[in-house]
Amino acid sequence: MTAGAAELGSTALDRVLVLEMVRVTENAAIAASRLIGRGDEKAADAAAVEAMRDALNQLDFDGTVVIGEGERDEAPMLFIGEKVGKAIGTGPRIDIALDPLEGTTITAKAGPNALAVLAIAEEGGLLNAPDVYMDKIAVGPGYPVGVIDLNRSPTENVQAVAAAKGVTPADIIVCVLDRPRHEALIAELRGLGCGIMLIPDGDVAGVIATTNPETGIDMYMGSGGAPEGVLAAAALRCVGGQIQGRLLFRNEDERARARRWGISDFDRVYALEDMAKGDCIFAATGVTDGSMLKGVKRRKDGTVTTESVVMRASTGTVRWVSGEHRHK
Ligand code: FBP
Repeated sequence: MTAGAAELGSTALDRVLVLEMVRVTENAAIAASRLIGRGDEKAADAAAVEAMRDALNQLDFDGTVVIGEGERDEAPMLFIGEKVGKAIGTGPRIDIALDPLEGTTITAKAGPNALAVLAIAEEGGLLNAPDVYMDKIAVGPGYPVGVIDLNRSPTENVQAVAAAKGVTPADIIVCVLDRPRHEALIAELRGLGCGIMLIPDGDVAGVIATTNPETGIDMYMGSGGAPEGVLAAAALRCVGGQIQGRLLFRNEDERARARRWGISDFDRVYALEDMAKGDCIFAATGVTDGSMLKGVKRRKDGTVTTESVVMRASTGTVRWVSGEHRHK
């Protein structure tokens, strides 16, 4: 048995929402794109947040942000628990995980792989992950269920994936965030002879890269944001692949944060379906050029072009959407 796109029956997510989600991520990406390379992470993020919120508030649903810009007292907009949509109390109840600008530093420095990204699911379908780190491991589609396991060592995981692929560990390419905290992981992978793609930021794109054979990336490993883990899980739910995550707590304040979201088992390993279950829709628009999507471009005549992807778990459909926006 292999892990592939989920086969699900009819769901509460109206199919019309598929394209609406692209409008939302396009709006955020276009707003952020004005700040590409301007050295101002905060301004880029703020522009994306405001634009994403405006677009969400035009939609006919009763939305709740479950993964957002932070807790209510930290984030003025798109905070966790914020209601969005224009049918609050009347429309379908939708949970939303969002990152209006995944890669604020990348955008400020005009680096690769910044995205505007969101996932929606039926109420209760997405893990309310606190904004702490998460240890993650992911592999693309086509592998036996259970080929990766966070309770095993990196060496054992690489060996398992290599065996399933029919290659040696030295043929495996692993994507890892370039961080000092990953020194031991990188040393262990180098000891196996693995290729390591070190990325400066943007682990949602890093995880999704494992699903695209053209990237050459077989696995994703290492710690990054827990919210980004849930977003990546939603994407894998649509296109296939496996991911596991374990929350990492640096202090008592972070544990208290997790308790507020009902988390009591701090060592729990979350499987894909613990992070994103039921039907869900994942959408992303490139802000800067990346392995999956081209970034926002402005033509001489003022037309703005975008590239987006939108996918749905219940059907496994993946749509690549090129946009030409003439009045932005
Ligand atoms: P931001 O867009 O919030 O800057 O996040 C970028 C990112 O690289 C994520 O993709 C990743 O999960 C996280 O930051 C890693 O955190 P850190 O930079 O603290 O290592």
